[in-house]
Amino acid sequence: MGRKLRVGSTPTFGTHGMRVGILTGGGDCPGLNAVIRAVARRSQVRGDEVVGIRSGWRGLVDGWFEPLGPREISGLLPRGGTILGTSRTNPYKVEGGVDRVLESFRAEGLDALVAVGGEDTLGVGARLFEETGFPVVGVPKTIDNDLSATDYTFGFDTAVWICTEAIDRLHTTAESHNRVMVVEVMGRHTGWIAVMSGIAGGADVILIPEQPITVEQACREIQHRHERGKDFSIVVVSEGYELTYESGEQRLVTQEPATDEFGHVRLGGVGHALGADIEERTGYETRVTVLGHVQRGGSPTPRDRVLASRFGLKAADLVAEGSFGRMAALHGDEIVDVSLAEATAELKTVPEDWYEVAKAFFG
Ligand code: F6P
Repeated sequence: MGRKLRVGSTPTFGTHGMRVGILTGGGDCPGLNAVIRAVARRSQVRGDEVVGIRSGWRGLVDGWFEPLGPREISGLLPRGGTILGTSRTNPYKVEGGVDRVLESFRAEGLDALVAVGGEDTLGVGARLFEETGFPVVGVPKTIDNDLSATDYTFGFDTAVWICTEAIDRLHTTAESHNRVMVVEVMGRHTGWIAVMSGIAGGADVILIPEQPITVEQACREIQHRHERGKDFSIVVVSEGYELTYESGEQRLVTQEPATDEFGHVRLGGVGHALGADIEERTGYETRVTVLGHVQRGGSPTPRDRVLASRFGLKAADLVAEGSFGRMAALHGDEIVDVSLAEATAELKTVPEDWYEVAKAFFG
């Protein structure tokens, strides 16, 4: 049964004087602060007040608010991370969580919420909107680029840039030492970061969850390179790739069995397992680099700063129009709005034709 939202007063959208809350949830991501700045700038110009909510949905469950005035948003554009903090809290998994969200929203006198996040954070927003009419607008964030209904999420370009630079640097060691260098990159369920940085960095083999070539096939590609006189190789593997063998055996490498409040296992480590396998099967000296959270750290690229800024302005405009249950999205070069339900219904995976581009350079 849907809950009814009880807000203190009924705001008139399109006029100023609203109180707009903003939260950032899920993994941190370059460009979050640029979104916060853009939402605040556009809202403040209209005469609306912007309130920061600390630590994602956790801040609404527990009522953690802070002012976001002109002074607080100054200097934010190039800053990595999020000044609001973040968490992977799921109010639907906290005792009384949804009622506490609705109550603290009302008690703080908020009229609208901008939720900046990926599938989990926005999935909560979509469900709250559907069940209670909660006045939420979404902004698509994730380095993984796996959200549907938008061509790109902000943060992805920065992650790809960081990985490409790492691959370039690893190339020099691979070449000097005649080694196989395995690079493990993030992307929980999808291989977007692996495919894009692998193509950009000239990887010789790329392994992703969506198109799981076998370990034997990967070794054959490396051997083929050696036969044609290239005695070093770069292998990019996505953390979510399941080690797949011609016997039919498949194995997902996780760090620990525990899952988070959204049911995700912690990935990481497939690179080491794959590297050991490659060395044993080919006899070539192999080294492994796990890029990990370096991919999410630091300043956003110019492209991500621009995208995050455009998304933030759009979100503020959606709030002003009273267009709730919507998400800012990129279609081609246009910023549009799509339904939060559509954006979070399923993940956007790497299609076969993208993987074909990568495969053209294997071996
Ligand atoms: O969703 C972004 C992401 O960086 C994934 O690529 C990765 O699997 C996960 O978050 C890591 O999460 P945490 O920062 O909690 O270790």
